[in-house]
Amino acid sequence: MPERMPKELEPAGGNGLLHRRLFLKGGAAALGAGSLGLMTAAQAKERPPWMRAPGRALSGYGSRSPYEDHVQRRPLSAKGTDGAGGSWTPLEALEGMITPNPLHFERHHSGIPNIDPGRHRLLIHGLVKRDLFFDMDALSRYPMVSRTQFIECSGNSYLAGLPEQPVNATCGELHGLVACSEWTGVPLSILLDEAGVDPAAQWILAEGADAAAMSRSVPLAKAMDDALLAIYQNGERLRPDNGYPVRLFLPGYEGNMSVKWLRRIKVTAAPAMTRDETAKYSDLMPDGRTLLFTFPMDVKSVITSPAPGLELAGPGLYQISGMAWSGLGRIAKVEVSADRGATWAEAALSEPVLDKAVTRFRMAWRWNGSPSVIMSRAMDETGATQPTRDALIAAKGRKFAYHYNAIQAWGIDGAGHVANVYA
Ligand code: CO
Repeated sequence: MPERMPKELEPAGGNGLLHRRLFLKGGAAALGAGSLGLMTAAQAKERPPWMRAPGRALSGYGSRSPYEDHVQRRPLSAKGTDGAGGSWTPLEALEGMITPNPLHFERHHSGIPNIDPGRHRLLIHGLVKRDLFFDMDALSRYPMVSRTQFIECSGNSYLAGLPEQPVNATCGELHGLVACSEWTGVPLSILLDEAGVDPAAQWILAEGADAAAMSRSVPLAKAMDDALLAIYQNGERLRPDNGYPVRLFLPGYEGNMSVKWLRRIKVTAAPAMTRDETAKYSDLMPDGRTLLFTFPMDVKSVITSPAPGLELAGPGLYQISGMAWSGLGRIAKVEVSADRGATWAEAALSEPVLDKAVTRFRMAWRWNGSPSVIMSRAMDETGATQPTRDALIAAKGRKFAYHYNAIQAWGIDGAGHVANVYA
C-alpha cells in the first residue's frame, strides 16, 4: 500500500512538479526535513576552530566572506577596448529580488568616468522658460522618493535563443543583463516644472558625462510620469559603474535610456535621432524595416536554480527558483513546467510583488533522476505573456538583437548537468 502523501507534496504538474502550497504558510517544512539527521550530538558539542579565538577586527566598509569570492560578474569588452562592453550578473548564484550593488550588471559605451561630485553639473535647457543648472548639493535638496524596480539591457537574453544552435553558457551569461534595486532620487517632473516646459515640447534628450557622451531621446510624457534622477542605489550613493553621482532612471524602459553620469537634459520638440538610437537600439524586422524607439521591456522570466552553472546532486526534492519581471507593470502569474511544456503548474510568488520590479517565484519539484526539461512562463497584469521561442522568431525573425523575451528551457541530463536547450 503506498504511503499517504502529505497535502503539501501533492503533484500539480507532470514529471514531479508539486503544488505551490509548499511555499505558502508553513508548508515548507516538508521540503527541508531531510537534512536534520546529518549532524550527531557529538559533532554538535565539538567547537569548530573559529570558536577558539576572537575573529577579525571591525571595519569601515564591509566585505563578503572569502568563501563567496567566486561569485563574480562576467566582464566582456568589445574588441580593442577596456571599457566598452558589458558584464553579466551571475543570476544562478543569487536569490531574492534585490541585486547586490557590486554584482549589478554593466553596459558601458566608453568606460566608467571618474567623476568628482564637487565638479559635476546637471543642465536643463532647450524648450523651457529658464535654463536650470544644478550641482549635487542643490539637487539633493529636492524631495526624494524611493522605488524598487528592475533595469534590463535591451540586448539581454538574445544569445539564449537567437543562434541556430543553443549556446552553452551559464544562466547569468545568457540572461544576466537584468538587475533590481531600490533607487532613490528626485522625480524629474519637479525640475521640469521648475524650468517651465514650453507647450511645443514633446521629447527630452538625456546626455551622459562619459567619453562617448551617450545620449538618448525620451518622450516628455515618460519624463513627466515616473522618471527619476537617481542618486542612491540600495541605500548608498550610486557606484561609478551605475552612473555616480547621478543617473536618469526610467522604470520599465530599456536600460540604455536610463542614462548614467547624467549631465544634460535638453527639452525638444522632436527626438534628436542620436547615434546611440539609430546605429544601435533599433530592431531589424524580417521584411528589412527597422523598428525605432521600442522602449518598454516585455514580460520575461527565467529559472535561476536549477540552471546552467549549477548541478543537481541526485534524484530528490528540489526548489525551483526564478525571476520574473515586466516593463509594463506587476507580474500576475508565473507557471512552471518540468515536462518540456506538456503540463504547467502555477508557481508561488514571493512578496512583495511590485510594479516593474523583479518578482521571485518558487516551485517544488521531485526529480526522479531521468532527463528532464524545465521551463517558466510569466504573465503580467496587462495580460502580456511570454512567447515561445518559435512564436517569437516567427513574429520577429532572427536578425533583431533587442527585446528577446522568449520562454527559456533548461535541459537536465541523467547526471544532473543543466544546459540551455531549445524546446
Ligand atoms: Co528597444
